[in-house]
Amino acid sequence: MTRIGVLISGSGSNLQALIDAVERAEINGKIVLVISNDSEAFGLVRAANCQISTAVFSHTDYVTREEYDRALVAILKDTGVELVCLAGFMRVITPVFIEAFPGRIINIHPALLPVFPGTHGQGQAFSYGTRVAGCTVHFVDDQVDHGPIIIQAVVPVLVDDDEDVLSARILRCEHKIYPEAVRLFCAGQLCIEGRKVKILEQKKVSSLNEECLINPPLS
Ligand code: GRF
Repeated sequence: MTRIGVLISGSGSNLQALIDAVERAEINGKIVLVISNDSEAFGLVRAANCQISTAVFSHTDYVTREEYDRALVAILKDTGVELVCLAGFMRVITPVFIEAFPGRIINIHPALLPVFPGTHGQGQAFSYGTRVAGCTVHFVDDQVDHGPIIIQAVVPVLVDDDEDVLSARILRCEHKIYPEAVRLFCAGQLCIEGRKVKILEQKKVSSLNEECLINPPLS
């Protein structure tokens, strides 16, 4: 059973999706620690409600990013964490962190990478006027929102959407794909091959609902 650490900064709805999937025994893992850089993060309450250990490490207490990351690595290692899930953790992590968990850090991003990396991926897509948007779970490498992609979900941008409605649609998809990515990792199904992630028991294409999403729909 994989020991999982989750890093958050805010609401923690993705953390909740992971907690729920673990509780339903869909993931062969256990969330052993939740860390936030913000003591007010609601995700800390979600974790405590489920008797999961929590820790707050404020980045403002550290002079450099590397010093901060060394503190995070120390507690994660002490807790025996094998997989680190970034779930709305609003900090850029340094090579100090990445090298401590090679191929063992994953992140969720609210856009279809490689487009719209950085903050507010949903807002970037909405402002740009894309017809589809989505979310991505990927391994973390030394560039922001860049590492090998595990799973993505695509949603249409609908004519009456505002940014909040679109963001909520994307978030509902995040809650589906993040647990699936963690499930695959914990089942030993993910193999990084250069830029690509091979899923050892890849589902057959026939399991797709539609071959393509066209938006606006053809008339
Ligand atoms: C999500 O949109 C995630 O993709 C992004 O930050 C947000 C976190 O939301 N990285 P929550 O804290 O999981 O509710």
